[in-house]
Amino acid sequence: MEVFKTTESQVRVYSRAFPVIFNRAKNAHLYTEDGKEYLDFLAGAGSLNYGHNNEVFKKALLTYIESDGISQGLDLFTTAKHDFIEAYKTHILDPRGLDYKIQFTGPTGTNCVEAALKLARKVKGRDGIISFTNGFHGVSLGAVAATGNKHHRGGAGVALGSVTFMPYDGYLGDGVNSLELMDKMLSDNSSGVDLPAAVIVEAVQGEGGLNAASAEWLKNLQALCAKHDMLLIVDDIQAGNGRTGEFFSFEYAGIKPDIVTVSKSLSGYGLPMALVLFKPELDIWGPGEHNGTFRGNNMAFITAAAALKTYWKDAAFEQEIKAKSRVLGDALQAICDRYGADDFYVKGRGLMRGISCRKAELAGDIARVAFDKGLIIETSGPEEEVIKCLMPLTTSEDDLRKGAGLLAEAFEEVLHGRLSKAS
Ligand SMILES: Cc1ncc(COP(=O)(O)O)c(C=O)c1O
Repeated sequence: MEVFKTTESQVRVYSRAFPVIFNRAKNAHLYTEDGKEYLDFLAGAGSLNYGHNNEVFKKALLTYIESDGISQGLDLFTTAKHDFIEAYKTHILDPRGLDYKIQFTGPTGTNCVEAALKLARKVKGRDGIISFTNGFHGVSLGAVAATGNKHHRGGAGVALGSVTFMPYDGYLGDGVNSLELMDKMLSDNSSGVDLPAAVIVEAVQGEGGLNAASAEWLKNLQALCAKHDMLLIVDDIQAGNGRTGEFFSFEYAGIKPDIVTVSKSLSGYGLPMALVLFKPELDIWGPGEHNGTFRGNNMAFITAAAALKTYWKDAAFEQEIKAKSRVLGDALQAICDRYGADDFYVKGRGLMRGISCRKAELAGDIARVAFDKGLIIETSGPEEEVIKCLMPLTTSEDDLRKGAGLLAEAFEEVLHGRLSKAS
């Protein structure tokens, strides 16, 4: 442990919540050096939707490495990239009637957000972007400017400009349509809000506390973008790749964003990979204008193609995710019912769900106790008040129930302890 504490930067964060040394993992299970088993309800912050060391992807990758396949290919044409693009078109884009160009960017989420914002600005010739309260889009300068969280914004060290924040769905309370405010601000010559190039939004805000936009709100947002000549960017980095029950988080709203950012579970194996999808008419980049050495992680192309061919060839996986979502939702609701619906309520959508605690500090306490019991689970939201379940989509129903059971035990221990202390 000592070398981490003395030599690794104090910027590290997950290892503070889970201070053990892991050395092995399989599907929804992580194991420590000394053999302790944990259930993983964090899944690499949503980058392991198909579980740790998925057997199918591992075999494909080992075969590829054995054959001396290209590992790093810049943006050269390669067989692995060809197969990935074909699979993405065949299993994802074509069946959904999505006619998008694919831009490979540097391999992290924030890289593809930068590219998306830059492209939108270039297309529209305007620098403004509208983002939403509690939105999280990454920590490089362009992306963090569109991120609401004060802690992350504070790390930038320079003024963060050209982004206007508007209230997300539900931010102003039930019954208040935040898009009416946005429409009014954009329509009024004297509101102080200049016409932006684009709007960037998450259909479910992962880091922002599992706020889920309604289908109607997303549809109206698309219409508002069309009305004011703004591009609609959906950041699907965390909520995409099946997390909400369909491949894209915006599908349930029946919208077709102009630009979509995709990363995290795209490679399926936890290998870094990111891309931007956009309507063909937006492809006005000059060659190399937005560049990057690591846009050709061919090993990620191999596992990503395997993921698409294995899990997205038909509707079975979607149905499986939806069934598991019901199991998770029921288990979380039962916890809230038991400990008081005034103090706890279920948030999110699909397998991106959690419990919001009115007393924010309880969430951290419960997550800590859950970890002691063998469950890896994090918190999110502006006050870290939401206990967030983000398990692999391939978690078995038994493990899902087991994890929910450990969470229920942690609630009991923390709340029982507090109640007895108070009484
Ligand atoms: C919605 C969303 N966008 C962007 C990012 C940034 O991705 P990365 O951490 O890979 O840069 C994240 C990361 O959590 C995210 O959830």
